[in-house]
Amino acid sequence: MTQLLEDQYGRVARDLRVSLTDRCNLRCSYCMPAEGLDWLPNDDVLSDDEVVHLIRIGVERLGIQEIRFTGGEPLVRRGLVDIVRRTRALDPDLELSITSNALGLARNAAALAEAGLNRVNISLDTVRADTFHEITRRDRFHDVVAGLEAAQAAGLGPVKINAVLLRGVNDDQAAELLQWSIDRDYDLRFIEQMPLDAQHGWSREGMVTADEIFARLEKSFVLTPAAEPRGSSPAELFLVDGGPATVGVIASVTRPFCGDCDRVRLTADGQVRNCLFARDESDLRGALRAGASDEEIADRWVIAMRGKLPGHGIDDPTFLQPDRPMSAIGG
Ligand code: GTP
Ligand code: 5AD
Ligand code: SF4
Repeated sequence: MTQLLEDQYGRVARDLRVSLTDRCNLRCSYCMPAEGLDWLPNDDVLSDDEVVHLIRIGVERLGIQEIRFTGGEPLVRRGLVDIVRRTRALDPDLELSITSNALGLARNAAALAEAGLNRVNISLDTVRADTFHEITRRDRFHDVVAGLEAAQAAGLGPVKINAVLLRGVNDDQAAELLQWSIDRDYDLRFIEQMPLDAQHGWSREGMVTADEIFARLEKSFVLTPAAEPRGSSPAELFLVDGGPATVGVIASVTRPFCGDCDRVRLTADGQVRNCLFARDESDLRGALRAGASDEEIADRWVIAMRGKLPGHGIDDPTFLQPDRPMSAIGG
């Protein structure tokens, strides 16, 4: 290893989040419009070889220890299993995971585990089929359940569930979702909605806050802070009714964790983003396709990290939502 991905505030990125596609087979209302988005042209998307090449530079030269594949929906990328296998071959100690909506996971979980994937985090905002349809605009709740079960059976655990609560839609279902997850041994985390939707419809008043989530859960459960250190995880963990079950809260907006951030992102079209909310990107695809050496690409990546801002700035009066929505950055 020659260099670290360190920013001006002493934070070191060891967790690389790789978006493999900006496409998705759901249409969550808080994420994108019913008609979908203008997807990236195929030629702009990194090939499997290019993805693995950039990951190799991150692992061999820049201290990356953990890789999470995201989307859009990473399972819609045909080469996913192969990319996982080739990434695993780079280093047996890498922590490899995906963040997925679980559609199609029932078919792929065993192959992903065999290829070297360690864990999955699954997005699921409700355990009622009708509310699922209302939120995602697709009637696929039972496919998600099958995907969760297959992931657990394949050993891709502990399986985590990420849930976003929407006021008037599923915010009254928090306790139900938690009990359902505990019964099946899934680790549920509630996420505060961030201003990253394609429609730019987010508002602070519309967002269900961590405090509201606690208030809802505490009607049914006793929550106490978990003892284990949080590290750079976005989730604050709480024991449910004394444990061992836990629930996590990812309060990105009201309790930002930017000071402990250890992440860097690579978009499906090969741009490095030093933050979800970054206003600029660094073009590794262009460098790669122009024949830059691994050393030159690593240098470009290191420079991209130096401009990382101390925080997301959502509360600043001058805050501007990034040009790309969450689905094109990778969650
Ligand atoms: P674990 O390693 O399993 O804890 O994964 P994770 O929680 O880091 O990853 P996951 O993809 O499951 O992320 C869950 C949610 O955390 C995302 O949907 C985001 O809402 C939020 N999140 C992840 N990374 C960041 C980040 O860098 N900044 C902020 N503000 N939120 C993030
Ligand atoms: N804020 C917070 N989380 C979001 N997700 C999608 N859009 C947002 C947003 N604006 C979540 C999804 C999924 C993960 C990839 O990100 O629900 O769990
Ligand atoms: Fe797809 Fe995730 Fe966006 Fe839902 S939140 S539409 S699952 S990318």
